[in-house]
Amino acid sequence: MSKIYGTDENKVKALDNVSFSINKGEFVLIVGSSGSGKSTLLNMIGLLDRPTNGKVFIDETDTTNLTDDKISSFRNKKLGFIFQFSNLLTDLTVLENVLLPREIAGTSDSAEKNAIELLKAVGLDDQINKRANKISGGQAQRVAIARGLINNPSIVLADEPTGNLDSVTSEKIIQLMKLMAKKLNQTFIVVTHDRQHFGDVDRIITIKDGKAFEGNLPSEMGVLA
Ligand SMILES: Nc1ncnc2c1ncn2[C@@H]1O[C@H](COP(=O)(O)OP(=O)(O)OP(=O)(O)O)[C@@H](O)[C@H]1O
Ligand SMILES: [Mg+2]
Repeated sequence: MSKIYGTDENKVKALDNVSFSINKGEFVLIVGSSGSGKSTLLNMIGLLDRPTNGKVFIDETDTTNLTDDKISSFRNKKLGFIFQFSNLLTDLTVLENVLLPREIAGTSDSAEKNAIELLKAVGLDDQINKRANKISGGQAQRVAIARGLINNPSIVLADEPTGNLDSVTSEKIIQLMKLMAKKLNQTFIVVTHDRQHFGDVDRIITIKDGKAFEGNLPSEMGVLA
């Protein structure tokens, strides 16, 4: 796919004929310098925006011609999002924040139990009834991870999930994401400037000037066809 922002002299080719597939259960890092097109790519995969040319297939569904309603429900059922800033609703409690995507999807009896389990997994079961403005940044990011996983998404998309954290907390968050990926066999696609903290991952894709390459060093990179 390609993505062009703007028109005429303001045209920016943010993605230039990028093509690859990611297998179920893979933990994939997307790396590359600022402005290279990483967030654009994630926004396309996450169906938050549409490519100018090309197609996004998710679980063999061609998402190109889905209506906006279908896209929203698809996104809500299949995809989980974790962003650099946790974007919690500060008037709600930790538990209520985690439950939000579930409420949009339609609640079920097990929702609260699942949310508490996830909060346990991220080490926050003692904070569930605190308001989201009364917790630390690292705790908020862990709440955001629990929220990103509450609908049991088959694909989790994270855009610099540790961009805003100290290195000790980053390390914990990264280990947590890797653990959850293994435990739930979820696909993780993570944009990061923090490559070394991630240790072993299944795959690294480097974005450079809107093009995608397999591998993380110029000498290791192979062009993705
Ligand atoms: N909404 C937009 N409108 C116009 N241009 C945009 C828009 N979003 C991104 N761009 C441009 O597209 C290119 C890719 O941007 P993108 O946000 O994907 O980069 P990035 O790799 O995520 O960078 P960073 O590491 O700084 O987050 C940049 O040149 C950027 O200025
Ligand atoms: Mg970005």
